[in-house]
Amino acid sequence: MAMEADAKSKERFLVTAGLPYANGPIHLGHLVEYIQADIFVRFLRLSGKNVVYVCGDDTHGTPIELAAAKEKIAPEQLIAKYYAGHMEDFASFFVDFDIYHSTNSPENKFYSDFFFEKLKEEKLIYERLVELTYCNNCSRYLPDRYVKGKCPKCSADGQYGDQCEKCNSTYQPVDLVEPHCAICSSAPVRKQSLHYFFRLSSFSQRLQQWLEPHQDIQQDVKNFVMGWIKSGLQDWDISRDGPYFGFKIPGELNKYYYVWLDAPIGYIAATEKYSREKLGQTATAAYWRNPDARIIHFIGKDIIYFHLLFWPAMLMGVGINLPSGLVVHGHLTINGEKMSKSRGNFLMAKDYLAVPGHEPEFLRFYYASHLVKAISDINLDFEDFKAAVNNDLVSNIANFVHRAMVFVSNNFDSRLGDIGADEKLFLQQLQPKYEAVLKHYSSYNFKEAVKGILEISSIGNRYFQDNQPWQLVKTDRKRCHRIVTAAANIAKDMALLSLPILPKYSEKVLRLFGLECPGGLGFGEIGRHVTGRKIQQPRIIFAPIEETIRLATAFPASLKVGKVEEITEHPDADKLFVLKVDVGNDKQIQLVAGLRPYYKKDELLGKKIVVVSNLKHARLRGFESHGMLLAADDGKRVVVVSPQQSEPGDAVFPEGSDAAEAAGEKQLNIEEFYKLGLKVKDEAVVYGGKPLRTAREIISVDAEDDAVVR
Ligand code: MSP
Ligand code: ZN
Repeated sequence: MAMEADAKSKERFLVTAGLPYANGPIHLGHLVEYIQADIFVRFLRLSGKNVVYVCGDDTHGTPIELAAAKEKIAPEQLIAKYYAGHMEDFASFFVDFDIYHSTNSPENKFYSDFFFEKLKEEKLIYERLVELTYCNNCSRYLPDRYVKGKCPKCSADGQYGDQCEKCNSTYQPVDLVEPHCAICSSAPVRKQSLHYFFRLSSFSQRLQQWLEPHQDIQQDVKNFVMGWIKSGLQDWDISRDGPYFGFKIPGELNKYYYVWLDAPIGYIAATEKYSREKLGQTATAAYWRNPDARIIHFIGKDIIYFHLLFWPAMLMGVGINLPSGLVVHGHLTINGEKMSKSRGNFLMAKDYLAVPGHEPEFLRFYYASHLVKAISDINLDFEDFKAAVNNDLVSNIANFVHRAMVFVSNNFDSRLGDIGADEKLFLQQLQPKYEAVLKHYSSYNFKEAVKGILEISSIGNRYFQDNQPWQLVKTDRKRCHRIVTAAANIAKDMALLSLPILPKYSEKVLRLFGLECPGGLGFGEIGRHVTGRKIQQPRIIFAPIEETIRLATAFPASLKVGKVEEITEHPDADKLFVLKVDVGNDKQIQLVAGLRPYYKKDELLGKKIVVVSNLKHARLRGFESHGMLLAADDGKRVVVVSPQQSEPGDAVFPEGSDAAEAAGEKQLNIEEFYKLGLKVKDEAVVYGGKPLRTAREIISVDAEDDAVVR
């Protein structure tokens, strides 16, 4: 009913997702956003709304220019390469943009110039001399991420030009103490340049008036932005000096728009490309100046400043529609930790797909199960992922659907029966639950939508189980047929409700009923009984996950080669020696070891050993022990692990890991160390199957297989 009205309405939705940078592949963090927006777009479309989903690559700026230079290719070649990769990744996760464009396009050049000229005309852009860091050696100005030095507040070394990671204070690149160029390490100079500024400061009031009563922006996001407004907005430098990859500012020889000026304009450029080709209209006529248009941006919490201050102010300045919805999500963490290359948990879309049995829709399902309209982070825990997919999606949802369809297929010659009065009554009770699911989608609360579908599935499963159709078919075939027909109808309605999250899966299920999808199919079909017709032979669509991504965890112990320089007997403990050990770099540490039952003093003096150097310090009968030496114990003998070709100070690490990365910094207690389970295999000391080694040799020890090493 509502759908017919909507079809006539002039309302049109434009949904955008943040434009990914064109200097890296799509990763699992990105996918949170593209999948979230894709689910919402599919929801709107199935609700009978007119909606387009636009996105594209963000191609400009210094990192892209430098990445291209490093690969010795033109920036255009670099961005073309990533464009193709991005398109592939999106397609493989069924992220279905109506247009995927690029900020390095004629449409974007046109609108960027339009904004610039118009804002200048309105006196919202002015010029001002600025003092910048300049590297004479590289012949370029250094943006904040390309100059490092000591923090002007706390003197912490190795800080970037924008913010100190130690004390969090923010400053300008020229404020850094003892700065150096992050590209070539030489000392930069200060140099003046004439830059263009956007009068963001003049928008404080208008931004506040727009923001505070806004119906479709999360309250915690509003609070953030109001905080920034209250502490005073600074005008914004929108120009950069060459060399730069971007659009040249009209009338300038070597100045470009700053990437964040033309990036959001890229939303309009993408719309332009779409509207011209599909509607024969300009982007502004069709959407950005159309009063019937509803523009909804999906973004991550890291780019709030740009989308809730700069962008609306720019739009106000040129008189273009402001977004009617801004949905901000949190960041993806993996197994509880921030994604990072050094942690080894920076996973690309392709890494996920490379695991056998990892259906793309499993990730869509997992993300949907965690997405709410909040900026809290979303954790992808692979054990939890496996459990959720196997228990909720495969065993609950997919299994119910399959069971009902197979029963009809095997017992009733693949033909649905009627729905009787009892079944009708039963199905009617589900209607409010269906509506609740749709409501949750509309308020971006996909987590609750998934819960709702799971609940419906459980009810369907119970209905099937309680009626025991496998018995009933022998005693009351007609009633049995009605009941399994009702169950099949629940399966059909669940497939419709799941379409935004599981588009391919649901499509396959709906095809069994002869419901073609897409092709006008919408939520209007929910609750409409499908009876009497022939269904197709069901096949298993989803199999449970067997293996999932296992992340290589960094080796937490810091092991070093040492040499025994002094050895004395502990005065009050007849099992203990007190050792002085050279651990390289002119450093000597003291260890207390219980080796007296196994070794004589001279046997140990001068011996090379392996020391665990990040153990919490201990006191043994009055003597400090600053670590532990490794020895193998096979129950009969205790043998000290003694490398032959290595030198004091050499790092000992599991083969295949990097020595620098392996060295744990965290202090371990003895139990944590024992848990590593170092043992002997083929006369080598192994950790999780990998032999320990130094750069010079594999660490061997003369002991039986499976002897514990500690
Ligand atoms: N190019 C800018 C956006 C310009 S929009 C006019 C940018 N690109 S990005 O590639 O870094 O990120 C694109 C989107 O993905 C952003 O909305 C960002 O918040 C989101 N994500 C990137 N990494 C993310 C996670 N680890 N987790 C969740 N989303 C994150 O920013
Ligand atoms: Zn330099």
